[in-house]
Amino acid sequence: MAPDPYIIAIDGPSASGKSTNARLIARALGCAYVDTGAMYRTLAWYCLRQGVPADDAAAVAATCRDWPARLACVDGHVRLLVEGYFPEKEIRTAEVSALVPRIAAVPQVRDWMKSHQRDCTRFGNLVMEGRDIGTVIFPETPLKFYLDAAAEVRQARREADGVQDNLAERDQRDRQRPVAPLAIAPDAILINNAGQTPQQTSERILSEIRRIRALQPSAS
Ligand code: CDP
Repeated sequence: MAPDPYIIAIDGPSASGKSTNARLIARALGCAYVDTGAMYRTLAWYCLRQGVPADDAAAVAATCRDWPARLACVDGHVRLLVEGYFPEKEIRTAEVSALVPRIAAVPQVRDWMKSHQRDCTRFGNLVMEGRDIGTVIFPETPLKFYLDAAAEVRQARREADGVQDNLAERDQRDRQRPVAPLAIAPDAILINNAGQTPQQTSERILSEIRRIRALQPSAS
């Protein structure tokens, strides 16, 4: 088996099943779970609260440089706390969803996120989900997955959850930004999970993890 700590990178567009599968895999393997989208959402929420316009890249960058945020791991879930507060519900509003791709396109924000996301290895083995984990944050990990499903399938999942979200616009912004766009790492395993249950998708991912880790050189 490969030496620890190991990182499992799960990327993909909105409503591709990243969160559900990442949580199932983290629980099955006893890894810490990191939702990087929640980190970007937290900064978008903080900018909104501070009255910082999301389209003012310089103001967003300055806010990110100085904001009172730190990471903590609680019950295996890594959280970004702002002044010690975890804004769990507040970051899921339609208003925050609409702003977050603008915040996430600011290069200094991506640098801040990258250093804090890489720092998560202090919590041990990780399952980290996002848009650029396999391409930019941990390109060295051999355990990379890219989840996808047709746009209509993903939109229907959000509607079934009763969440108001313009997925098509958000995906387009995420794919087209110049810095760390949503992209498939060349060595990622691509899984189209339309019509699959989360159990089926996570079983597939777990079996690929076992296969890949068995091929890695051992620590000794
Ligand atoms: O709601 P959904 O699961 O689709 O998205 P999320 O994972 O909560 O991420 C919200 C937004 O954060 C995305 O639309 C991206 O703009 C941004 N994001 C990013 O740029 N890079 C990441 N690694 C994760 C999220």
